[in-house]
Amino acid sequence: MRERVRGLLPAARADLEALVRIPSVSASSTPEARAAVARSAEVVAGLLRDAGMPEVEVLTARCPDGSPGAPAVLARRPAPAGAPTVLLYAHHDVQPAGRPERWSSPPFEPTERDGRLFGRGTADDTAGVLAHVTALRALLPTWGPADGVGVLVLVEGEEESGSPSLPDLLATHADRLAADVVVVADSDNWSVDVPSLTTSLRGLLELRVTVATLDHPLHSGIYGGAVPDATMALTVLLARLWDDAGDLAVEGLVRTEAEDLPRTEEELRRDAGVLPGVGLVGRGSLLSRTWTRPSATVVATDATPLAEASNTLAASATALVSVRLAPGQDVDAAEEAVRAHLAETVPFGAHLSVTRTGSGRPFAGDAPGPARDAADWALSLAWDGAAPAHQGMGGSIPVVAELLDVMPEAAVLVTGVEDPDTRAHGVDESLSLLVLERACVAHTLLLARLAGEV
Ligand code: BES
Ligand code: MN
Ligand code: MN
Repeated sequence: MRERVRGLLPAARADLEALVRIPSVSASSTPEARAAVARSAEVVAGLLRDAGMPEVEVLTARCPDGSPGAPAVLARRPAPAGAPTVLLYAHHDVQPAGRPERWSSPPFEPTERDGRLFGRGTADDTAGVLAHVTALRALLPTWGPADGVGVLVLVEGEEESGSPSLPDLLATHADRLAADVVVVADSDNWSVDVPSLTTSLRGLLELRVTVATLDHPLHSGIYGGAVPDATMALTVLLARLWDDAGDLAVEGLVRTEAEDLPRTEEELRRDAGVLPGVGLVGRGSLLSRTWTRPSATVVATDATPLAEASNTLAASATALVSVRLAPGQDVDAAEEAVRAHLAETVPFGAHLSVTRTGSGRPFAGDAPGPARDAADWALSLAWDGAAPAHQGMGGSIPVVAELLDVMPEAAVLVTGVEDPDTRAHGVDESLSLLVLERACVAHTLLLARLAGEV
């Protein structure tokens, strides 16, 4: 079977490159970006049809504000009598590339260097799409109507912008979305040589925080020193999100200890590219800080831009604060706690307004059983005998909790094609071509084993 998959790798590579060339940035609302996301959905639908999936549709659902969401691809192969159904998940949208001139090669032009394929979305999550497609290419042609398992494939087009229309999509198609096993290909690995089965993911709460102190901007010489300006108030407010150790100062949030796995501070510093002399932040074990404790990042600010600098006191200023939530944390309770903290710590009586702009629930699950055994077996064989690390991850995949609402009994297997050098969301994102091969083999072996063939 490994040989069969190896024969399918040139096609996987070519299809991966074609998808990376489509700048399917779901967070952008320009007509070009929307057309690109629509095109990538059609390409993925075509790959699934050609792989032999009998029913393939491109679906659009509604966001809470009534606007249309990004197109998702849903494909279905009904289960033969008595066979289970396996749902395969990945996403075809990508993060924005930022400034292209900062990349070593153009972000939407896949480029190979040193065994890695560089380009936006190579590893997050186009290779995840191709791992599923390759498994289907390997197995579907060998399955008669009574063979194999039922297969559902969901390839979302707005994961990177918080999946706003996903609840509507899942509700609308709930009758077709029953599965016994869910295989997610959108996470990280311990390393290129050690695969991971993700046992927990953090949730996410995104808040837009605006402070206002004046009803119009002022000359900073005439009033500065007596009149508080909004940038000052926002800076002080944001600083109070963390204590002196750089740990999130918000009380009442879930904080737990991560499993003890061998990862040293030195390795973390190297993988993250922390500059010499810069200390780490937070409390608790190193892994708890990124997997099982909350954290906050100011992901953007709207204060006076450098190009418009003048000696003025700003009337209002805004920050986008992204709070990662520990497994087990209720999102609404977290929002209450963060709002209370902001209201208590806002300085100078500045007017504060807070709006939730996005959220996703955390996930925790590592239930023993035949599905998990099959994943351990498939990953280990594909990674030349390396046992998979059962580990938490600090990122978020909100669809996992949403899918479990619809199919609470399903066994969830979270795998991925990233590795510590991937730089997902950053400049010079890349995919290890060895991981691509291993993931294609692993997903094929996993599906074959769930079908009882191996
Ligand atoms: N693939 C990532 C999530 C991820 C990465 C999980 C590495 C575990 C390890 C996914 O595409 C992602 O970036 N999710 C967003 C979710 C958000 C937009 C709601 C995130 O984590 O920021
Ligand atoms: Mn992803
Ligand atoms: Mn991502």
